[in-house]
Order: sequence, then C-alpha cells, then structure tokens
Amino acid sequence: MAAPSREELLSLLRERLSPRRVLHTLGVEAVAVCMAARWGADTEAASSAALLHDMTKEAPDQLQLLRYYGILPSEWGETVPNVYHALTGAAFAGELGYDEELVSAVRWHATGRAGMTVLEKILFIADMADPFRAAYPGLADIRGLLYTDLDQALALGLRETLRFVRENGRPEDQFTGEALYWIERKWENGNV
Ligand SMILES: [Fe+2]
Ligand SMILES: [Fe+2]
Repeated sequence: MAAPSREELLSLLRERLSPRRVLHTLGVEAVAVCMAARWGADTEAASSAALLHDMTKEAPDQLQLLRYYGILPSEWGETVPNVYHALTGAAFAGELGYDEELVSAVRWHATGRAGMTVLEKILFIADMADPFRAAYPGLADIRGLLYTDLDQALALGLRETLRFVRENGRPEDQFTGEALYWIERKWENGNV
C-alpha cells in the first residue's frame, strides 16, 4: 500500500482537527522539514510525521481508539493519558502504511525516550517550536538551538516538558525523564 500523498494527509487533517490544531500541525511541519534538511534526515518523512503527529488528538475517546487498534498503553510502555494520542496517532500512521521509523517518531513526539533517532528528535523539537505556539519560558532558546545543536535543543525541550507537567500538576510520563537522563549521560561520557 502506497503511503498517502501530502494532499491526502492534509484532507485527513482537516476532517479530524480544529482549524487551530491544523495551523499548529502546519507550523510543526515547516520547522520539521527545515530541521530535516539541516540534520541530514529525510525531509519527506519529516513532513509526513509532522502532519500525522496529532492526527488523532481530537478523537472523542482515546481509550476506545486504543482498543480499536488493539493496543493498550502498557504494550508501548506505561504512559499518561495526555500522551495516548501519540500511541493512537502512531497506530494510525502504521495503518496508512508508513514505516517503522516514521511510526516511532509519532509514538515518541510528546515525551521523547532514551535512544531517540534523529527523526524522533526533530519531531519532538519541532512540535515545541511551532511558529504559532504561544510563548513559554524556554521557547526562544529552543528556537535558537534547533539548527545549531540538536541535542541541546532536545535537552531544553525535555526540561521544558517536565517543568510544564510539574507546574500544571499533571502526571509525569516516565519516558521524558529517561530521555533527559540519556542525553545528559551522553554528554558526560563525551559521546555526542
Ligand atoms: Fe501531540
Ligand atoms: Fe503537536
């Protein structure tokens, strides 16, 4: 099965998401494609991953969708409800015929994880740096780093994610902490 064209993904988006989230998605796509060009990743994969990353976020019942796809959060690791859309979005992308690398980028876009691929890093950071996103404390620094130091931009993004969930009293996803630990150990070991 051939994966959908960009035009087909755009119409899927418009059917499923509010205009505000479509705008966010297009912003993420623009940043992700530029980052992919900068960091030697596949720009087409970056575009598709970005267009797919929040595709299921406005589905009325994430648990029902998880059941529909035959996945429970525990199968991809315990995660928090805010992140369910990343699991269902990844399943949606897999159903459309996208490869493992792209599906994985959608899966980890909201939390990060230890051992992230370049495409996973790009989507995670682009999601946080979308030009239409409301300002938050680390945003300018992340934007300043995303073409010059991918791992520093990632570390900042992970720290901001942890700060946001803590300040808003939301449950913390284990994978974000693990990702930050991984990237910081990499520097300590001089393995960058
Ligand atoms: Fe998301
Ligand atoms: Fe997003």
